[in-house]
Amino acid sequence: MGVFASTDDPGSNGHEQVVFCQDKQSGLKAIIGIYSTALGPALGGTRFYPYASEEAALADVLDLSRGMAYKNALAGLDLGGGKAVIWGDPEQLKSEALLRAYGRFVESLGGRYYTACDVGTYVADMDVIARETRYVTGRSVEHGGAGDSSILTAWGVFQGMRAAAEHTWGTPSLAGRRVGVAGLGKVGKYLTGHLVEDGAEVVATDVNPKALEWARATYPQVTLVDDGAALAAADIDVYAPCALGGALNDDTVPALRAKVVAGAANNQLAHPGIEKVLADRGILYTPDYVVNAGGVIQVADEIEGFNFDRAKLRATKIFDTTREILRLADDEGVPPAVAADRLAERRMAEIGRLRTIRLG
Ligand SMILES: NC(=O)c1ccc[n+]([C@@H]2O[C@H](COP(=O)([O-])OP(=O)(O)OC[C@H]3O[C@@H](n4cnc5c(N)ncnc54)[C@H](O)[C@@H]3O)[C@@H](O)[C@H]2O)c1
Repeated sequence: MGVFASTDDPGSNGHEQVVFCQDKQSGLKAIIGIYSTALGPALGGTRFYPYASEEAALADVLDLSRGMAYKNALAGLDLGGGKAVIWGDPEQLKSEALLRAYGRFVESLGGRYYTACDVGTYVADMDVIARETRYVTGRSVEHGGAGDSSILTAWGVFQGMRAAAEHTWGTPSLAGRRVGVAGLGKVGKYLTGHLVEDGAEVVATDVNPKALEWARATYPQVTLVDDGAALAAADIDVYAPCALGGALNDDTVPALRAKVVAGAANNQLAHPGIEKVLADRGILYTPDYVVNAGGVIQVADEIEGFNFDRAKLRATKIFDTTREILRLADDEGVPPAVAADRLAERRMAEIGRLRTIRLG
């Protein structure tokens, strides 16, 4: 994807702004991508990653910032889409000076971009960045932040799953359904709790033995299977990818017996076109960026002064949004992923347009 509007990507208006930031002394090399501020300041996390090249870092930030515009639009936030990458190995490069230098670049954008955590950056890093900029979320509770965003991410995924259950079986409940949770990390653990409480039968897997130990000790009724492939092919009603991206690929999709897919992992569709294969197999896929928006809803709430109950109420609305997307998909005869994109684009256009009404 390029920076400027391109005719071969009809969903793209191009990026509004892409900023390259360098501080030689601390070793900072960052790129901040602002895809759209149509709905408000751009919000999206900072990924700290040892990309193979500058081109790879740029391609990732452009892809991710565009994704955030769509996610924030459907989450009902008054926020646009942006993202940043810091190019390098966080294990070797991360320092107070580097993070603060980065914070100064974020501040220099005057509030057009708010940052947050992503792969390679943590709540404690946001606290350091916050010493140089006001435009940072995902800080610790001690610093007025929202803390661990996986709590509302899991809650939102559960709401999206309930909407998919209603669409498929007529009741917004997972009671009596077999749900496969792939990945018992921060989100997978909370999700398992919601599912057990709702009366679902949970089947799960994780590559980390500690996560499996946690499941045995906390929820002995959960059935554990060997690996992701076994889980995807298991006799389950719902498949919830909660580990890495690309969970829905040419191997897993043909093997899936589940009728519904709803999970927290980002970028679940391994390649374009796989959503069509899911639809053709009669599997209802709830788009990942819709159902996993609870985390961004949680950190976005910090901008107003964090209030957990208010943020939870917003994350609960993922139920209504998922329901609307599934209806639109049926009405327009397109996969839910396409319906979600259309709805996001509609909100960006309709609400973004209001700024053309001059205010005195
Ligand atoms: N935490 C959030 O607020 C949030 C928000 C939006 C999206 N997400 C996405 O949700 C997913 C989970 O996030 P998390 O915060 O729980 O991460 P996490 O790192 O805490 O958990 C991921 C878990 O998946 C396991 N795992 C890794 N590879 C696996 C495999 N091949 N098979 C089975 N298990 C495997 C890991 O051992 C780990 O326990 C990620 O894709 C993340 O990007 C998270």
